[in-house]
Amino acid sequence: MIITGKARVAGVIGWPVSHSRSPRLHGYWLDKYQIDGAYLPLAVPPDQIEAALRALPALGFRGVNVTVPYKEVAFRLMDEVSLDAKLIGAVNTIVVGENGKLVGHNTDHVGFFGNVANGAPGWQASAGPAMVVGAGGAARAVVASLIFLHAPEIRLYNRTRAKAEALARDIGGPIRVVSEPELDDVTLLVNTTSLGMTGQPPLELDLTRLPTSAVVTDIVYTPLITPLLAAARARGNPIVDGLGMLLHQAVPGFEAWFGVKPEVTPELRAFMLSGLGA
Ligand code: ATR
Repeated sequence: MIITGKARVAGVIGWPVSHSRSPRLHGYWLDKYQIDGAYLPLAVPPDQIEAALRALPALGFRGVNVTVPYKEVAFRLMDEVSLDAKLIGAVNTIVVGENGKLVGHNTDHVGFFGNVANGAPGWQASAGPAMVVGAGGAARAVVASLIFLHAPEIRLYNRTRAKAEALARDIGGPIRVVSEPELDDVTLLVNTTSLGMTGQPPLELDLTRLPTSAVVTDIVYTPLITPLLAAARARGNPIVDGLGMLLHQAVPGFEAWFGVKPEVTPELRAFMLSGLGA
């Protein structure tokens, strides 16, 4: 890809950032749509994060993604934050406004919904209760998404109950903190913890009471089929793997910075999977 002096520039800020899949993802779209632009990995050490964010307008950046460990810090450093970032309490996408203002968004809820809508087209959040396992940053985005989609009840289970209660307090809505996963009548089961990831123990969950019509999804995508998804699939539940969440959360940022709404296609999935060594 050859870029000119007029190229639009964006990137991803993290520490470390070498694990990030975002440069490969945005690079694919830049190439596909023949855009005069670049998306760079930006490794910013903790004592430089504020200076780095403040420098974005001066350097002419259109914006950046923010990844671990800066999503909450970035939230506090924005000039403006969108409703989704406010609800989730974290920023993953920054757009530099025309006046040089830093506007923070959180697109993880778009990623969650886009992935489930695409992977389980008949599913409707409003049709019944959802069971969410975990209460970290990813859980906040999932719960926010379910609230935006009018889920009537969100059951929330976390190893550390106090964190689930804090999440329920911060976000509000029809959240019910439970002391163990309650799977009766649910239309959706989501794992938002890191359990099931390569090198981690699996999420131990007895699926006996889960309706076989319930959609089961995982935010973990290495491996693509986690032990939870494999167990759900074996008993006939529809499953949605976590890779699509990464792909769909990137759409609004790319569109804001580069002016084209990119498509999530089977070819893109295959390209990202080959980068995971899968
Ligand atoms: P993220 O931003 O990716 O959600 P996080 O904020 O560190 O990451 O949250 C990780 C989630 O995985 C938490 O819900 C955590 O449970 P605790 O709040 O009890 O720590 C959950 N988690 C991680 N390892 C776990 C384990 N071994 N058993 C149960 N839950 C685990």
